[in-house]
Amino acid sequence: MGRWSFPLVLSFVSLLIGFFSGPRIQQDEEAVGVLSTDSRWIVNEDGKRVKLGCVNWVSHLEVAVAEGLSKQPVDVISKRIKSMGFNCVRLTWPTLLLTNNSLASLTVRQSFQTFALLQSVAGVQTNNPSFIDLSLNQTFQEVVRNLEKNEVMVILDNHVTQPGWCCGSTDGNGFFGDKYFDPNLWILGLTNMATLFKKYTNVVGISLRNELRGPKQNVNDWYK
Ligand SMILES: *[C@@H]1O[C@H](CO)[C@@H](O)[C@H](O)[C@H]1NC(C)=O
Ligand SMILES: *[C@@H]1O[C@H](CO)[C@@H](O)[C@H](O)[C@H]1NC(C)=O
Repeated sequence: MGRWSFPLVLSFVSLLIGFFSGPRIQQDEEAVGVLSTDSRWIVNEDGKRVKLGCVNWVSHLEVAVAEGLSKQPVDVISKRIKSMGFNCVRLTWPTLLLTNNSLASLTVRQSFQTFALLQSVAGVQTNNPSFIDLSLNQTFQEVVRNLEKNEVMVILDNHVTQPGWCCGSTDGNGFFGDKYFDPNLWILGLTNMATLFKKYTNVVGISLRNELRGPKQNVNDWYK
């Protein structure tokens, strides 16, 4: 992330934090309730500061499956995140996962097969057999559900439009004015995502778009 964009994205996160109801996460010894902001701080229902310690978990690449599910059971990964001292995951997603039915309804098996990743098919079958024939959008939900079970907060990070590696300054996947950035589709994706996860107690926010970049990013306007 660029030097200037970090506080911007954080404030996007803060803006939306109050949107989801009822996260109930143990934060050290204190339970926190619904999160909101107080000036620059994120606070719980008692006005006590909550610190998000988030690790990035990538789920926006070509196959649109959370990385690592071919290597370890999801519950092992969630517990490892917790034991390393994180209380939160920034889970990345491509817009099309929430707006393109033919992508969303692909199974994990089909998605890996499309890219001839047959070893990964075998790996998921071994480590997460219940996911192999789930659709990509269900799989994404199951990952969030497992993090919920392990009391890990989640920030849903809209990373790119099309599934794939991010970011290049000419990839057309940045922001307004870029080739693959359709504002209406973006809003639809965010809306569908927010709707899908409204009831999840551990989902505490959405970051609206990863890394503004490229020639049309209007740095000076955003900075102001
Ligand atoms: C997954 O996507 C399919 C196709 O768009 C849709 O019918 C289904 O309701 C979605 N499921 C979830 C859990 O979002
Ligand atoms: C929707 O997803 C399918 C499957 O990944 C892809 O072939 C198609 O190009 C996508 N459509 C759009 C409009 O991006």
